[in-house]
Amino acid sequence: MALQLRVYVPPHPLVKHWLGVSRDAATPSVLFRSAMTELGRWLTYEAMRDWLPTLDLTVETPLAPCPISLINPEVPVVVVPILRAGLALMDGAKDLLPLASIYHLGLVRNEETLQASCYLNKMPSQFDPQTRVLICDPMLATGGSIMMAMDELIQRGVNPEFVRIISVVAAPPALQKLGTVYPSLTIYTACIDETLNDRGYIVPGLGDAGDRAFGT
Ligand code: PRP
Ligand code: URA
Repeated sequence: MALQLRVYVPPHPLVKHWLGVSRDAATPSVLFRSAMTELGRWLTYEAMRDWLPTLDLTVETPLAPCPISLINPEVPVVVVPILRAGLALMDGAKDLLPLASIYHLGLVRNEETLQASCYLNKMPSQFDPQTRVLICDPMLATGGSIMMAMDELIQRGVNPEFVRIISVVAAPPALQKLGTVYPSLTIYTACIDETLNDRGYIVPGLGDAGDRAFGT
């Protein structure tokens, strides 16, 4: 059976609440950042369901033997925040993944051409092929940035089946690009908006996530 990109929009009131707060242009930076952190937390919680490897064991409770399931500590787990806006999402994610390594990736879009370029890459030259990778990027718009992030990971030996992307607003151009090149990927997003405007912003979206998160 052919693989197809999986995009989940968790129907959770907390996700809807913090999405609503982040969309409101009247929300100040400090609250916008909190909204991103909360969305990072709940989207990560959802994404972990079918992503974190577990070990089946048996322990003795005070009363009897009992089968249990623990997170497998031997499989590396990493978080990749796409700077700048992904930092606030990562703050929520890392609370749930305290042992994960964090590899920062700084990408910025050219405002005219909308092409992404990389100004910081803290990834190692090679990842263990079993590595589970959580990418945090709130906006998937033209898809240039997320495709560049995926390229950097794949070049370093990451299996796309073990990648989860969390985003706040995803748009069709980004989802189409990801689905064409990485059909085994899974994305968790708070919503999918229909269009981009002529400056590459998602509409209705939430504006410039990096500027809003950092008050610039
Ligand atoms: C924003 C956003 C994404 C990217 C998405 O970053 O955080 O990374 O745009 O756009 P794309 O899908 O068209 O590539 P931006 O370049 O504005 O940098 P910033 O986070 O530092 O503001
Ligand atoms: N980047 C943003 O921050 N917002 C958008 O709407 C699109 C790209």
